[in-house]
Amino acid sequence: MKFLPAFILLCFQTGVAIAQPSQQARDSINKLSQEDHKHMLGLLQINSLRQGANGNDPNAPNAANYDESKANPYPALPDPLLLKNGKPITNAKLWWEQRRGEIIEDFNREVYGRMPATTPKVRWEVVSTASDTVGTFPVITRKLIGHVDNSSYPSVTVDIQLTVSTPALVKKQVPVVMELGFVFPPGFRMPAPTATANNAAAPAPPSWQQQVLEKGWGYAILIPTSIQADNGAGLKQGVIGLVNKGQPRKPEDWGALRAWAWGASRALDYFETDPMVDAKRVAIEGHSRYGKAALVAMAYDQRFAIGFISSSGQGGAKLHRRNAGELVENIASSGLYHWMAGNYLKYAGPLTWNDLPVDAHELIALCAPRPVFISAGDKGDAWVDVRGMFMAAVAAGPVYRLLGKKDLGTTTFPALETGLMSGEIAFRQHSGGHTPGPNWPTFLEYASRYLR
Ligand code: GCU
Repeated sequence: MKFLPAFILLCFQTGVAIAQPSQQARDSINKLSQEDHKHMLGLLQINSLRQGANGNDPNAPNAANYDESKANPYPALPDPLLLKNGKPITNAKLWWEQRRGEIIEDFNREVYGRMPATTPKVRWEVVSTASDTVGTFPVITRKLIGHVDNSSYPSVTVDIQLTVSTPALVKKQVPVVMELGFVFPPGFRMPAPTATANNAAAPAPPSWQQQVLEKGWGYAILIPTSIQADNGAGLKQGVIGLVNKGQPRKPEDWGALRAWAWGASRALDYFETDPMVDAKRVAIEGHSRYGKAALVAMAYDQRFAIGFISSSGQGGAKLHRRNAGELVENIASSGLYHWMAGNYLKYAGPLTWNDLPVDAHELIALCAPRPVFISAGDKGDAWVDVRGMFMAAVAAGPVYRLLGKKDLGTTTFPALETGLMSGEIAFRQHSGGHTPGPNWPTFLEYASRYLR
């Protein structure tokens, strides 16, 4: 179940019956992904990978570990403030001029893959403009397509989908919260919360969009799969396939997370030209796989003002060195490896997690000095290793402090629903499951300090 696309997962969790891609289509995607995965292993000269953790069966021999006493086989993390030559980073200038680049280079080569030096231009076209009401808020909604220049390889077309809704009555440029959005099949509706004796009379909470509008801000939804497919079978298409002219990736080439983050940056380019949006006050939010992508986007593009990183887990804010919930080996499997650089597979084969030159705390540190909110749920969200994300947030602290900002303010894991919100790294575990939902009000209050 852990490997199914998120909308299928949601159906299992909610019991909602929806149309899915046919079995035949899924089989074909799996087959092509497995072939591409095998090709990458060939390039890396790896014969086999270690098995991932089983998140479904606690009795399986490879059951995911949730025992904290076994969770830290490699407790020593790479020091974000130590240059490779052993010299300590003692001031902000050295961080910006020497250390930050080293960390980015390691993430490029070994983890997320290297974006090509030149990427194709994107021409944004407004395809429709409509007046709408969201809750009680009048908005103007524009649908846009970002046409990616494919003159270098016309057989691949990439049209990025972006929707922007801004308050209709506000005549100045507003902050925008951009979500990396899942695509649900036609006709799919999020199920209404089940009525119980306690909440039967309670009205449904306002949607995140309504909460954003309430602040007087706008919101946008970017569709990552319009930039790059969410499977290995699609790597010869999308923007990765376009720049590679339909050829398979090399071990250092970018994976889907980096490509989705690239697309988020192109949306930000568009906002810089939009008279209704204040591009200096754009927040990025994503959940689960898109929580990973939102963190990568925040880390690599310093124009994003603030990030809401929801349940990002392994490959996101969770330490790769932790044995808890999902592991490096899961992400290196043929179902998910396309998110990462091919080189990442080595750490689930001949090498160990401890051989990674970087870890997730340094990805968070790349966001410094900008505020970043690490969010997770309780029951049903153990797979993301909430504590491993907290530990990464703590370990990013020295970089924030060096840049004159406040870190989490503690190394003690906080009680449920107790936000650590006083610094530029923030953290809160809500009592819902695998969802950003209950943390939206906390995030928006936090963001108000910065986007005002
Ligand atoms: C799987 C995967 C996670 C991912 C999640 C999702 O559970 O193992 O890494 O975050 O899917 O995006 O829904």
